[in-house]
Amino acid sequence: MQAKARAHSNIALIKYWGKRDRRLNLPATGSISLTLDALQTETSVEFSPEYQEDLIILDGAEAPAQTQKRVTNFLDLIRVTTDTNDHARVHSSNNFPTAAGLASSASGFAALAIAALAALDVSIRRSEMSRIARQGSGSAARSIFGGFVEMEKGSQPDGSDSQAHQLHSPEHLDLRLVVTVIAETAKETGSTEGMIQTERTSPFYPAWVETSEVDLKEMKSALAAKDFAKIGELSEYNCLKMHATALAARPGILYWNPGTLKAMHLVREIRDSGTPAYFTIDAGPQVKVLCPPDAAPTIEQELQSIPEVKQVITAAPGPGAHLLSE
Ligand code: PMV
Repeated sequence: MQAKARAHSNIALIKYWGKRDRRLNLPATGSISLTLDALQTETSVEFSPEYQEDLIILDGAEAPAQTQKRVTNFLDLIRVTTDTNDHARVHSSNNFPTAAGLASSASGFAALAIAALAALDVSIRRSEMSRIARQGSGSAARSIFGGFVEMEKGSQPDGSDSQAHQLHSPEHLDLRLVVTVIAETAKETGSTEGMIQTERTSPFYPAWVETSEVDLKEMKSALAAKDFAKIGELSEYNCLKMHATALAARPGILYWNPGTLKAMHLVREIRDSGTPAYFTIDAGPQVKVLCPPDAAPTIEQELQSIPEVKQVITAAPGPGAHLLSE
């Protein structure tokens, strides 16, 4: 009744922003991501008929009420799927600063899905695990797999075809993602809230959904061809288009702060001076820079010269979620 798993976070090169079904957490667009070796969550789960309720310990302390509720809802889903009534004790820890705004929900829900299913002795296909993880967090569906991963939005109303699959192994293309931890100035809008506001009020939203298909197709060709410049250019373009769509919501959703803007300009300066570097940004101020392995040390150093940059973490393509022996 007990199991432990490790999952790695991921960064979307072609983003998911918008939901076609909120209850089942079905994305309105497909997405393509890179699983990151350096950012990981380890989660152990124990189910017991003796537990009266679920208990969630995050990085050594009882999780805040909101997280507790989100995890319990997810465990309810696993209980329904596996026909179990038992409650669980969950211990989860991240090897990166949890409060730094580096999406821990992707690695968190992927590790939780794998550990909980193994603890209940349920063996299912990875594609099904991905569909389950999706209901914890859309990006978690991708962290089930390693390397370069595609999330299919699917077309079935019940979400039975809304799942991720691996496009290429981590070894397919050696590149780095330099992640900056930039001080946050205000509480950011959560991704679900931001997506709903964008869907409801941004006049650019239909164009974002429509053009996403072209971006996905182009990114798949660029990845297959190992065309780094094209991969970088498409990632930066798709990220700016996502933010432009969210900025045009009412009220506008602004995830960037002065440090974010300084890092974006710096990346473009570095690129103009001949070093291949491209940025991408999610629902927060952190700037993530895609570059070839040999360019990473210089880029790290340059980014650290920005006063708002508190920390820099460099990641390479990483493996999918897997069980750990205790
Ligand atoms: O999975 P969520 O609900 O954290 O949403 C992810 C949204 C973005 O990070 C902005 C884009 C993506 O595809 O990861």
